[in-house]
Amino acid sequence: MRYGYFDNEKREYIILNPVTPMSWVNYLGTADYCGIISNNAAGYAFYKSAKTGRLLRFRFNSIPMDRPGRYVYLRDNTDGDYWSASWQPVGKPLSVYKNICRHGLGYTVFESEYKGIKSEFRVFVPVDRPIELWEVEVTNTGSEERDLSLFTYAEWCFWHMDQDLTNFQYILYTCRMGYLEEGIIDYSIRLWPNQRPQGFMASVLPVVSFDTDREAFIGLYRHEGNPEAVERGVCANSLAQGGNPCAALQNRFTLKPGETKYALFILGIGDAATYGVECRRRYARREQVAAEFQKLQDYWAERLAHFTCATPSAELDTMVNIWNQYQCHTTFNWSRSASFNEAGGRDGLGYRDTNQDTLGVVHAIPDLVRDKLVDLLKGQLSFGAAMHSVQPLTWTQGAHNVPEESRIFSDDHLWLLISVPAYLKETGDFDFLNLMVPYADEGTASVYDHLKQALEFSWSKRGPHGLLLGLAADWNDCLNLKGKGESIWSTFLYCLALDEFITLASYLGQEADAAHFRQYRQAIQESIDRYAWDGKWFLRGYLDSGKKLGGQESEQTKIFLNSQTWAVIARVAAEDRLKQAMDSVQELLATEHGIIKNYPAYREHILEVGAVTDFPPGLKENAAIFCHTNTWAVIAEALLGRGDRAFAYYRSFLPAAKNDRADVYTMEPYVYAQFITGKEHPQYFGRARNSWLTGTAAWSFVAVSQYILGIRPAYDGLVIDPVIPQDWPGFEVTRRFRGKKLTIKVRNPHRTGRGVAEMKLNGKIIPGKVIPLAQMQNENLVEVVLG
Ligand code: GLC
Repeated sequence: MRYGYFDNEKREYIILNPVTPMSWVNYLGTADYCGIISNNAAGYAFYKSAKTGRLLRFRFNSIPMDRPGRYVYLRDNTDGDYWSASWQPVGKPLSVYKNICRHGLGYTVFESEYKGIKSEFRVFVPVDRPIELWEVEVTNTGSEERDLSLFTYAEWCFWHMDQDLTNFQYILYTCRMGYLEEGIIDYSIRLWPNQRPQGFMASVLPVVSFDTDREAFIGLYRHEGNPEAVERGVCANSLAQGGNPCAALQNRFTLKPGETKYALFILGIGDAATYGVECRRRYARREQVAAEFQKLQDYWAERLAHFTCATPSAELDTMVNIWNQYQCHTTFNWSRSASFNEAGGRDGLGYRDTNQDTLGVVHAIPDLVRDKLVDLLKGQLSFGAAMHSVQPLTWTQGAHNVPEESRIFSDDHLWLLISVPAYLKETGDFDFLNLMVPYADEGTASVYDHLKQALEFSWSKRGPHGLLLGLAADWNDCLNLKGKGESIWSTFLYCLALDEFITLASYLGQEADAAHFRQYRQAIQESIDRYAWDGKWFLRGYLDSGKKLGGQESEQTKIFLNSQTWAVIARVAAEDRLKQAMDSVQELLATEHGIIKNYPAYREHILEVGAVTDFPPGLKENAAIFCHTNTWAVIAEALLGRGDRAFAYYRSFLPAAKNDRADVYTMEPYVYAQFITGKEHPQYFGRARNSWLTGTAAWSFVAVSQYILGIRPAYDGLVIDPVIPQDWPGFEVTRRFRGKKLTIKVRNPHRTGRGVAEMKLNGKIIPGKVIPLAQMQNENLVEVVLG
């Protein structure tokens, strides 16, 4: 069953049935301001920090699941009936009330129709202002004149979300709401003076009444679905001094048959008397609002134009050209801080997460990636490891950044060896390596030396088999091997990190460094050859007790996905062994909904394995289809040249491919979720959870663009090495690369799906698989024949 469809022309996902199994959300805002909004207008907002800059409140894990939000109520003043511009919160019966929600790039629209009144409610955040514009257009489609009211509703949060959730004895006595005659609500609060910004809500149409006190607007023993003020037809003009502040403004007008009225509300950050008044004046002219909306659309068009594709798969095209890239920008901006699943208390950048997030956007916004890499490098410690999360807004150098020994992870710092080379390959900005960046605790070093330090740290943290110690955890946060426990996955990541560095150092002519790390790579390889293989697949590690993890003789889980995929990605064995490992994946882990992460699931706690053993089978890190890890299986199969399998895996967890089974999948069909429930779960096999902020976004984009379509940057050019399904006749890509534009047309006449038989750049044959940068013109046509 489906709830909506993709309109690729408009770059929208259109939800026809508002009773979605979960809230399906969108992100508003491109810079410091972030608004999250669901298909029923629920959601919250914050400025710069989800933890300390929370402007609009949300009640997490509440019943109903989606309150409060950005609500607009419509009221017929003749009979007193009222409804909302989104289906919830009033929730009129769908037999008489129609609603469509359109999520687009940076905006969401709700269209409603009820008793001869149509409304269109559009919310967006302009590109460079910390405000939301709520546009409401109301049309009388009936034959009688109508007397109508509009009421807005938003609930202010007390900036610091922890305080807002816990410290009522204090925060409920801090706000002092104001109201300006121009129709502007002033939200100012004296919590920690001088540190908090202020908020406001303004109406462009004349305001008939207002409320700033939640209790006055909603009433006792009521909720957002039946506010007393709306029922009564007028607000109480309440000015909260303490209590829970809200923003409710009433407009009232009559509409002749066929007539339309346009109302605009502005909600945002700033001083009401100055910035609020300025915004109200500026946007009183509707053309100004339209211009802001156009600017937002241009912004997204530019961001998405750096990579586009046309393939035989409509689902793939929809995801790559629109939603996957859009999601990548969202994860890049907000890491894992705030969504409908992440309440925002863990602010800042997850170290490994943000390093990986850069991979999904570096082709489009390399300058912003550079800044973010600097933020991350500042979170690296002088001895090479990294802080597990970094708070760029409040970072200061010092010993306070050194984590306890038990909070040092085996992978965090190594991701720099993936993200920095990716940035260099995309941009050719080798000067970046000379930039001096402070360490988190003490001292300063060049970016190049930061990278070396990361490699040295891991070298110093090897265990009894010469493999990397697992430390607090590796990529799998819930695999807490500690002690002498070793992570074979981290060892594979280390191999790739070493290879990346060796390639870079050689390219730069730093032969001594290359030779030094080649010795490490060689020594690690010997340990892998001796201790990593388990007969049909690779082990996942060794436990503190010396027992094998993820092998045939292991307790409970006997195979893990990550050690198979990364064996291929890091090329740690001969081709036949790698193929055998991936064949074991196909045999034991692949399902119709995606590939499960480990099998069989853990059913009992094992202390020396860690928290992964605590989840019920099929959820999260315990034998779910952890989508992030599925992207690596796609890459691995592509690297092995098996395009049919790579594409089948890609499609198995592709949200767009779930659209017709949305009742099973349950989450948004337009963005990736963190995991899909695995086959060992007793009820919910195929059900997705934790959408939007997941590393799946960046890696899916890498998997499809760089490995299936096979277009990947190198230091001196662009590699073209597709591995596509055999029955595809071909595909086309447009790519911007170092200021050049390329149109790449790939044909697959012999249905091999791989192998570059012939490549032409602007009509001239190019040997090999790399289009040299030196031969590119500003506009290029690349013609490739596979075979
Ligand atoms: C979550 C975390 C990520 C971790 C993954 C697996 O997605 O954000 O850092 O790698 O879980 O545990």
